[in-house]
Amino acid sequence: MAQLTQSEQKRLVGTYAVNELVKEGLIFDGAKVGLGTGSTALPAVERLAHFIINGQLKDIKVVTTSFQTTIACENLGISVYSMNSKEIQGQLDIAIDGADEISPEKNLIKGGGAALLLEKIVAYNAKRFIVVADESKIVDSLGTKFPLPVEVIPEARFAVIRRLEELGAHCTLREAVKKCGPVITDNGNIILDILWDNPVKPEILEDTIKSITGVVEVGFFTKNKPQVFVAHGDGSVTKIE
Ligand code: 5RP
Repeated sequence: MAQLTQSEQKRLVGTYAVNELVKEGLIFDGAKVGLGTGSTALPAVERLAHFIINGQLKDIKVVTTSFQTTIACENLGISVYSMNSKEIQGQLDIAIDGADEISPEKNLIKGGGAALLLEKIVAYNAKRFIVVADESKIVDSLGTKFPLPVEVIPEARFAVIRRLEELGAHCTLREAVKKCGPVITDNGNIILDILWDNPVKPEILEDTIKSITGVVEVGFFTKNKPQVFVAHGDGSVTKIE
């Protein structure tokens, strides 16, 4: 049987997860839903829009994690709220997002799309956090393959790089495509992509890196363990509880 491509797996898992969450009553009428960023999260956004538009879900209030997802919602006709909206009060029932890497402990690297700050605000303030991923995202350890994104205040670039190098990291300033110079995040900051020679401890480093002055956010997500839906090349989807 033909294997699904990575992009087919992404579409499958985004759609499947929302179907399941609606079926299980975890996305319900009136739910406050955080919507992630990237090519796996977007099919989930589209599927949720389908349920809203055909009236199967009523009074859903969504909060987005990036300009990309806000624009997708606008195009799909879904109203977008802020975490500070009166209706949201800084807390969500559920958040759905992609990931760049997922370890056996369900620690994540996120921020491949430079949206880690809002993604973490949403994920860490959701009662239930759902990750959707194709099978390539499942790894044995973090820190040596997919570079960890760190969002940094531009003025602190050198100072933060020096501190990260003291932690054994190799740092690369993320360059923009179709724009000269660095990627500027939705919040006006830069991204350092960092790698280590050997696997690291994400639970410790999330706090250590976050405490460096000038760091706005770090792409290790270790504190609100997600339920993970994974699509496989054979067309199946498995769940890691
Ligand atoms: C964006 C993210 C994305 O969730 C992550 O990069 C995965 O993206 P994709 O689903 O396109 O592979 O963290 O900041």
